[in-house]
Amino acid sequence: MLSNKDSDALLSRFGVSIEPKLLEQFDKLIAQKGYSNRSEAIRDLIRDSLVQKEFLSDLPVVGTVTIIYNHEIHDLTHKITHFQHDYADLIISTLHVHLPEDNCMEVIALKGSGSRMKQFADALIGMKGVKHGKLTVTSIGTQL
Ligand code: NI
Repeated sequence: MLSNKDSDALLSRFGVSIEPKLLEQFDKLIAQKGYSNRSEAIRDLIRDSLVQKEFLSDLPVVGTVTIIYNHEIHDLTHKITHFQHDYADLIISTLHVHLPEDNCMEVIALKGSGSRMKQFADALIGMKGVKHGKLTVTSIGTQL
């Protein structure tokens, strides 16, 4: 475990020129998000851009698709399961949660190329009867 002093020695410092109004907005935003300083907020923005780049490349990324649907809709549960079997190479795990009023949430963990992940998520979220869905992608971490 590195002490603060040791980890500081591994950091590079650079100056940033920025319009005062933009900086003011940035400071308000990061305060709302709970960042203790600008440096960590800027590091996270850079990491987010790098993850976006990985997502658009052919490098393997990981992610989750979360969907909400009503299991009483005719054949929908079967369709969703059948569709996931078509992408068995992409899916690591599926979590099913029963919700009130016949609703179900599924959280599907994925690992693979960003383009295939997007193809899977778009088709699943766009399926008739799926009320809402979201794809979240992150890095496997080795490039960050
Ligand atoms: Ni259920």
